[in-house]
Amino acid sequence: MFDFRPKVQVTIDQTGESYPCAIGESLLQGMLRLGRKGIPVGCVNGGCGVCKVKIVEGSTEILGPVSRAHVTAEEEMQGYTLACRVGPSCELRLEVAGKMSKPFFKGYDAQATPPATIK
Ligand code: FES
Repeated sequence: MFDFRPKVQVTIDQTGESYPCAIGESLLQGMLRLGRKGIPVGCVNGGCGVCKVKIVEGSTEILGPVSRAHVTAEEEMQGYTLACRVGPSCELRLEVAGKMSKPFFKGYDAQATPPATIK
């Protein structure tokens, strides 16, 4: 089944990987399309904090509440958010942060896996 929603490109700064993410779709759902190990899927409703990212460039739309237990007000002002609770509102760049970092980078072998770009 085709997804005809408009999409924008999301780039993960630390690895150079990029993927299309639909407007209205969470950054985490789009990221799963990279289809590789190390992208943890937790509660998918803002409760576990495993999908913490920092928006480096671009802007997001809020899809649901982001727990203060996982993203403080100060962190939010610095660009941190939960990838399962926000979607892109334009092309953007992000950094993986927090609990997600360890499995994410463990699952990424830069020498065996050139940066994925899914268009
Ligand atoms: S997957 Fe649990 S907060 Fe995002």
